[in-house]
Amino acid sequence: MARVFSGVQPSGAPHLGNYLGAWSRWAREQSDGHFYCIVDLHAITIPHDPAVLRERTVDLACWLLACGLDPDAATLFVQSHVREHSECTWILNCVASMGELQRMVQFKEKSEGRDFISVGLFDYPVLQAADILLYHADEVPVGEDQRQHVELTRDIAQRFNSRFGDTFTLPRATFPKTGARIMDLQHVDRKMSKSAESPQGTIDLADSEEATRKKIMRAVTDSGSEVRAAPDKQGITNLLDMLSAATGKDVADLEAHFVGKGYGDFKREVAEAVNGVLRPVRDRYSELRDDPAAVEDLLRKGADRARAVAAATMDGVRARVGLLLR
Ligand code: TRP
Repeated sequence: MARVFSGVQPSGAPHLGNYLGAWSRWAREQSDGHFYCIVDLHAITIPHDPAVLRERTVDLACWLLACGLDPDAATLFVQSHVREHSECTWILNCVASMGELQRMVQFKEKSEGRDFISVGLFDYPVLQAADILLYHADEVPVGEDQRQHVELTRDIAQRFNSRFGDTFTLPRATFPKTGARIMDLQHVDRKMSKSAESPQGTIDLADSEEATRKKIMRAVTDSGSEVRAAPDKQGITNLLDMLSAATGKDVADLEAHFVGKGYGDFKREVAEAVNGVLRPVRDRYSELRDDPAAVEDLLRKGADRARAVAAATMDGVRARVGLLLR
């Protein structure tokens, strides 16, 4: 069975795109060879507020559990709880080149316009490589924007293996099927992302049902009146994709269902379906959020399990590199 690793930053408010595009699938496909990591060390590569980071870390754990990640099946943990991630990063730093890191598109985007660019931000992809390689992951479910980082991870792993002997598994990125990529409701040419950037275009998991409905009813559509997926009907296509992801029905069947109906009816059904899938998630979240101590306890257990794997990998790495074993 494939070993799977994925990571998610505790930054910004979790939204519908996270759920439909990634987390619902993580929950559906989870098994004991799967590791899901809240990457707090990645979140400090840009300026942050310590109290907010701490809150968001617990909050994200609540959402992931609410989405159905089962700590008895998969391993859910916080990156900084497993010190091997930092240690492995240092060693991989000595195998990664400045040139390849300079080619990372995400670094260019994230550093643009900042007057202070941390070394951590530059090194971000090496920490990500350490995350993945410590667990011998075969598959890394990510968004399209992470393709380059996973390819870099392969290159680093391959270079390490050829210099020091076979140590790391070469991972490959896997992507959500098209349709599970949810776009902003107001700016349909970009992915739904943190609500701070486009509050009306983003459905937060924490939104009320009323707010969710309003945002969907106000979503930009296109001129015309047919509910049909087409390149020149991006707004409608996005809503169809959302409905398809929420109901499990094919877009073609949905199109047939809406023949002769207007955008208003269509949007009402989308809103109902979205609120319907989110209802149990939102309910579970509120329960978990009321008992953070229990969630922290689950995270500690997750870290223990992750650590057992990561520590074994690091023993091999230290020996191969020639560090004197204590
Ligand atoms: N960089 C990833 C993102 O922004 C998050 C991440 C960190 C990650 N470590 C990872 C994803 C390891 C997959 C595997 O989405």
